[in-house]
Amino acid sequence: MSEAKEKNSNIRKVYIKTYGCQMNVYDSERMGDSLDGEGYVATQSPEDADLILLNTCHIREKAAEKLYSDLGRLRVMREERDPSRPLTIGVTGCVAQAEGDEILRRAPTVDLVVGPQTYHRLPELLQKVREGKKVVETEYAVEDKFAHLPHHNRQAVRKRGVTAFLTVQEGCDKFCTFCVVPYTRGSEVSRPVEQIVDEAKELVDAGVKEITLLGQNVNGWHGVSQNGSQWRLGDLLYRLAEIDGLKRLRYTTSHPRDMDDSLIDAHGNLEMLMPYLHLPVQSGSDRILKAMNRQHKAEDYLKLIERIRKARPDIAFSGDFIVGFPGETDEDFEATIKLVEEVGYSSAYSFKYSPRPGTPGATMKGHVEEKVKDERLQRLQALILDQQHRFLKSKIGKRVNVLIEKAGRHDGQMVGRSPWLLPVAVLTNAKIGEIIPVNITEASSNSLLGNAAN
Ligand code: SAH
Ligand code: SF4
Ligand code: F3S
Repeated sequence: MSEAKEKNSNIRKVYIKTYGCQMNVYDSERMGDSLDGEGYVATQSPEDADLILLNTCHIREKAAEKLYSDLGRLRVMREERDPSRPLTIGVTGCVAQAEGDEILRRAPTVDLVVGPQTYHRLPELLQKVREGKKVVETEYAVEDKFAHLPHHNRQAVRKRGVTAFLTVQEGCDKFCTFCVVPYTRGSEVSRPVEQIVDEAKELVDAGVKEITLLGQNVNGWHGVSQNGSQWRLGDLLYRLAEIDGLKRLRYTTSHPRDMDDSLIDAHGNLEMLMPYLHLPVQSGSDRILKAMNRQHKAEDYLKLIERIRKARPDIAFSGDFIVGFPGETDEDFEATIKLVEEVGYSSAYSFKYSPRPGTPGATMKGHVEEKVKDERLQRLQALILDQQHRFLKSKIGKRVNVLIEKAGRHDGQMVGRSPWLLPVAVLTNAKIGEIIPVNITEASSNSLLGNAAN
């Protein structure tokens, strides 16, 4: 065999499937980076892969169960595979953290289980698998995971495009009574300022124009500046805005209780911070908010929305809602509808309450019937969809700055991102990465259409 051919046959391929939230998307990217040095290249096809990683989500029962149906299919795939091409199967992410070796018991086809705090150790853990061991690693690492991850793979960043995620905060200390995140992601940790700035510069050097800062409680981020002063997320945003070549900033997901003055001020004064905010409230009923341990009232949320709108009048809000939390009456649900009507969202996500093992909500009294949950979800979703249409239609005739991301479906058409995250299809000869003014001519159910303005 020639040397080149031999080298080629040593290339290992990894397929990473991501479930769940943006933080998992970021983690999958970083896992890919950590495997780079091991000679793994990414593949989009599980059949083609030597290593398959399922980066999982535990937030609702459906999300977690999806893992086991996928593992069932992978078991068959592995059995049917030519034995000369061995396949390693790993489970990472929040189900890995929550269920640990239970996963091996339920699905013996799995070789490796790694929690979200330890994936920087993937190379050494894979070595153990090669030695024939089954590996479960769900202890929180004492070292800083991020400090141990390699630099971003420039080519991979370029391939992903001109927008990127950057995790600045992990974990959650809020303990909402429905939520598994404090258990799967551990307590709140903020990454240090310089580490974040360096990573942002790396992304911008690779062509990224828009960065979304991520955290389970991103606005709980805090750090220390170079001169020793205490910083909150607003201060960090101002610092990142100084990076040459970076054009836009966003952050998600925020808790209403952590929206402080410096952050609201940034929305008013930092042009680069996009006028869009995902600010989940979950319910409009004070009784339910209390049972959920959200630690604020509906009125506090509405007042907060008002303050942010005052700072940035064109801001669009998005949110998360849970229907059918234990004890939720028709009256409680009506309070949620009323809150949604008062806020007027540009988009929002709503879910049926799913009891999660180990959370206080699971053992509360007054679980709501599935049929009632369904009805409430349908009504809420119809209202949200209507608001989204109205929001999109309100942009017709307006001039909007669009970050061009990729070629569109039709000749001469490009697709880009509006300040409110919603995509815009535009006839233009502008290149990917440019931000251009666009006259909006049409609105579909979830996107806008327009022409490049002169
Ligand atoms: N940190 C974010 C949310 C993270 S989870 C926050 O505080 O808002 C994303 C969303 O999933 C939540 O906002 C909530 O609406 C939903 N969710 C979480 N646990 C859930 C459960 N047990 N059942 C249904 N939806 C849930
Ligand atoms: Fe979950 Fe609440 Fe923490 Fe959000 S704030 S991650 S909903 S516990
Ligand atoms: Fe799911 Fe974990 Fe994100 S539970 S929503 S992947 S933090």
